[in-house]
Amino acid sequence: MKLPLRQYLRLLAKYLKPQSRRSLLMGVLLLASIGLQLANPQVLRYFIDTATGGGKVASLMVAALLFIGIALTNQGVSIVARYVSEKVAWTATNQLRTDLVAHCLDLDMAFHKEHTSGEMIERIDGDVNILSNFFSRFVIYLLGNVVLMIGVLLLLFQIDWRVGLAVSVFALLANYTLIRIRGRAVPYWTAERQLNAEFYGFLGEQLAGTEDIRGNGATRYVMRRFQQLLYNWYPVNLKATMSYYMMGMTTLTLFAIGNALAFALGAYLWSIGKISLGTVYIIFYYTNLLTQPIEQIRTQLQDLQKAGASIQRVEELLLMQPSIAAGSGMPLPTGTLAVEFRHVDFGYTVETPVLQDISFCLQPGKVLGVLGRTGSGKTTLARLLLRLYDIQKGEIRVGDVPIHWPDLRLLRQRIGMVTQDVQLFHASVRDNLTFFNQDIPDTRIIEVLDDLGLTAWYRSLPNGLDTELGSDGEGLSAGEAQLLAFTRVFLANPGLVILDEASSRLDPATEHMIEQAVSKLLNGRTGIMIAHRLGTIQRADEVLILEHGRIIEHGSREKLAANAASRFYHLLQTGLEEVYV
Ligand SMILES: Nc1ncnc2c1ncn2[C@@H]1O[C@H](COP(=O)(O)OP(=O)(O)O)[C@@H](O)[C@H]1O
Ligand SMILES: [Mg+2]
Repeated sequence: MKLPLRQYLRLLAKYLKPQSRRSLLMGVLLLASIGLQLANPQVLRYFIDTATGGGKVASLMVAALLFIGIALTNQGVSIVARYVSEKVAWTATNQLRTDLVAHCLDLDMAFHKEHTSGEMIERIDGDVNILSNFFSRFVIYLLGNVVLMIGVLLLLFQIDWRVGLAVSVFALLANYTLIRIRGRAVPYWTAERQLNAEFYGFLGEQLAGTEDIRGNGATRYVMRRFQQLLYNWYPVNLKATMSYYMMGMTTLTLFAIGNALAFALGAYLWSIGKISLGTVYIIFYYTNLLTQPIEQIRTQLQDLQKAGASIQRVEELLLMQPSIAAGSGMPLPTGTLAVEFRHVDFGYTVETPVLQDISFCLQPGKVLGVLGRTGSGKTTLARLLLRLYDIQKGEIRVGDVPIHWPDLRLLRQRIGMVTQDVQLFHASVRDNLTFFNQDIPDTRIIEVLDDLGLTAWYRSLPNGLDTELGSDGEGLSAGEAQLLAFTRVFLANPGLVILDEASSRLDPATEHMIEQAVSKLLNGRTGIMIAHRLGTIQRADEVLILEHGRIIEHGSREKLAANAASRFYHLLQTGLEEVYV
């Protein structure tokens, strides 16, 4: 039997500390409720004994009212306790969710590539949901039920030592048996949760790619995978559920034995005149009351075990450190930024190098056009500049500062990137453009939109900047989405702009608008343009051609264009489209 008690207590301490007073209140309420539960049968015993002994009706009335009063109070206390414990649980688990989300956002791209969004949802929400039970109930219920059990046994001893002894032995045996068989279910539950996460991971991925799946006729393959997952899931789930019910059955049987024992003892003691009828009743009642803590202790321990996997995964996730260190906070120079690569080697995994021995230098304010086949490493080059990944060898300098010196956020603020896929959020146009930065005034946004030729589009918005955008940029053309991405970069005012140009063909009018926007964006900034069209490259001062992750040509565009022996010259003759796309 292995309980993740220590990990659990560590999480508990961390997230309950800020609400210690409320937790204390929860404990007090619970104890009060236990006290009331123990007191009420005493009133009943008095009632029964008075009634069978021919007592006064008035006393019976008082006893009855007292009984009802205590029962109602107990209900009231339970409701408040429940309310407080839910509040504690939600506050704690929301904090935990927040911490996990913030933590995951800080983790590397490599981490996010490895884990599907469905899996992340299951880990952050599923696992935390399971934990929420503990924050409200586990310790308190466990302690509360142990107290209740001891209280009941003491009261039984006080009635008659034989009854006390017999029921104590029974309670011990029952607890022991249940805890012993509980351990069996754990592996099944762990396996079940794992498959659960896999299933949702798969589902999330497929739903996100519905269009591609249908378009490519992969539906049958997806359905097959889907059925396979269900097929694997079913037997594991069955075993997990069955083991759970087996424990339930054992509990019921044990309780039946306990009841029979109480009845037999009570009947015997009554028949020899040792106890009154009211006492027989109270013995039976208390023995019955004992089933609650035994059952609860079992469920709580069982839940703890089920959550063991979740607790462990949450802890694992929290312990995972981004491999990209934050940087010592060295400032970057203001204004345009120079870029320098010195013998840079990089691969997403150590075994497969993607970029090799990349060295070049770009003066501030200059524009570099990067050409190369699909897969030659152009996008990777851009990612390295944003430090989405760290390089294995060499050095990258931005603004004459090694890239790992400045704070990551500062670095990414000073470098603007526009890629093929523009990620729009389900939020207002304003928030989409400013990335929720409220310091940027509306007048500035409108100015930039005007500048980029988006005036007509902006005027057509029903609520201006407050218009909500659909999450996938519904209702926006590809060109408009691109222009919005440019607007974003403009508003952030970076010193270096990277354009990983859209390969989608735009209509000529939009293309013209985008070209103008690019000109404006590059004005007074250093630029790296990953080009899929030769038209784009006309703006570049320098040209760099990548092949299989190596630089095979680098030089001034004009000189290369004039040199009949150069690759670039050759490309200009044949056309980039024919060679590369
Ligand atoms: N996230 C990634 N993980 C592993 N390999 C990757 C990843 N992204 C790209 N690659 C690989 O790196 C190489 C270069 O890719 P990329 O930089 O996207 O090329 P380009 O932008 O020139 O088309 C390709 O072989 C590609 O398969
Ligand atoms: Mg690319």
